[in-house]
Amino acid sequence: MFFQNIDGKKIYSNLLKGKWEIKNHDNTIEVKSPINGETVGFVEAMSKEAVDEAINVAKETQLSWRDVPTNEKSKLLHNVADLLEERIEEMADVMVIEIGKDRRSCMSEIKRTADLIRFTADTAENIKGESIPGDSFPGFKNDKISIVTREPLGVVLAISPFNYPVNLAASKIAPALMAGNTVVFKPATQGSICGLYLAKAFNEAGIPSGVLNTITGKGSEIGDYVVTHKDIDFVNFTGSSEVGKRISRITEMKPLLMELGGKDAAIVLEDADLTLAAKNIVSGAFSYSGQRCTAVKRVLVLDTIADKLVEEILNKIDSVTVGNPLEGDFTVGPLINSKSCDFVEGLIEDAKNKGAKLLLGGERKGNIIMPTLFDNVTTDMRIAWEEPFGPVLPIIRVKSADEAIKIANESEYGLQSSVFTNDINKAFYVANRLEVGTVQVNNKTERGPDHFPFLGVKSSGMGTQGVQYSIEAMSRPKATVINLK
Ligand code: NAP
Ligand code: G3P
Repeated sequence: MFFQNIDGKKIYSNLLKGKWEIKNHDNTIEVKSPINGETVGFVEAMSKEAVDEAINVAKETQLSWRDVPTNEKSKLLHNVADLLEERIEEMADVMVIEIGKDRRSCMSEIKRTADLIRFTADTAENIKGESIPGDSFPGFKNDKISIVTREPLGVVLAISPFNYPVNLAASKIAPALMAGNTVVFKPATQGSICGLYLAKAFNEAGIPSGVLNTITGKGSEIGDYVVTHKDIDFVNFTGSSEVGKRISRITEMKPLLMELGGKDAAIVLEDADLTLAAKNIVSGAFSYSGQRCTAVKRVLVLDTIADKLVEEILNKIDSVTVGNPLEGDFTVGPLINSKSCDFVEGLIEDAKNKGAKLLLGGERKGNIIMPTLFDNVTTDMRIAWEEPFGPVLPIIRVKSADEAIKIANESEYGLQSSVFTNDINKAFYVANRLEVGTVQVNNKTERGPDHFPFLGVKSSGMGTQGVQYSIEAMSRPKATVINLK
């Protein structure tokens, strides 16, 4: 059963070899809503033995799964997408209460995920290799040919963060399966029930038993064990840079695909459309309370136009709504937990103490940080460099585009940046010099659409996500050389 009511607890099971199981209902984690602290449900704090079982099943199943024809894998993924769309209302309701995201954004995430899975299914034809004749290299004859195919890596460990509990799980699971791997999926604890609903859709769509298995439990307790497990062949991780660096240190030679933290800068040049820039900056900074890796997390603006941009931003911030996600689609609601609020408050206090000009907000109401805008932020302030993962936007005034590029690149992060200008030459001048994975021209920083390459450099990650890129990351060439007489 997907969940069981045991001693008054609604305990969600894990998917192991096609069955929903609770190995030890005495060892559970209570998932509470960040909105009102109410219990959403319980998930198992799985033991190492239970984790071993999930990994062993995935390993045993992988060889048969890889031999399933690609066109059949494709059909199964389309079935998954169909089920997600059928269950979008139910799953959105769970997501709202479990992670405090507004319902419109939850519905959008699930629809986006169905689209991602379908796109992945239809990318099957791109999973191919090539043939290379030997005599194209000096000294060789035409009696040798290399047939290059692509093969799966084996068992993929997919670890997702809390903020996109369905999309950032499926963005790993679907390409992994399409490439012929089996998957062990560990959702973020806050968001794990959403993740189990996603696994339920995969299971009921006909994905064979053992191909996808879930493990729940705190990353701080089972994380090291599972990422270093000898039968995990690849780790696909999205989360904080702190955890990502830890995983990178302890996994030695294991291949990784990691999407980590960010401090995305919006660079506004003198010829920018300031209304457009302000609209994108506000939306990019405050949607889902700023809890997006690709949120706009700092503005670097030429001081000659800074006053006008600030005026435009203040006008646009009027559209930022604050409230309870259970009562409406508000831009800003409660952060994921009180620890996050404490951290964001620390950044706000530091900025105020060091002389930043507080133009808006700065207060905390329960687990809600009010939309906060600082001007005249200087590089000695924590908010200039640290990732708030909350609705706080610092404005840093610069003298030139080159100064903006310099400050942007001094960040430890390198996920995305935006540049607002109407001069294509300036756009490329800035884009070519920014140490990030993606530069958005005249748009907020954002990952979608999900087939675009998505990568972070420096502390923002390693490897490239995005449908085809993920398939390539979770597969490798196999060269079979034919030697003719
Ligand atoms: P997090 O605390 O790093 O957790 C991410 C995932 O890692 C969760 O499933 C977590 O499990 C697990 N985990 C924790 N410690 C672990 C360990 N030692 N070994 C293995 N796994 C471990 O991040 P979050 O709070 O969920 O998400 C916010 C952060 O993720 C922000 O920094 C944000 O920028 C980043 N993020 C990046 C992207 C991107 O695409 N670049 C997207 C979304 C979020 P538990 O939940 O059980 O702790
Ligand atoms: O933070 C997670 C990342 O996937 C955000 O996606 O499209 O909202 O930028 P997006």
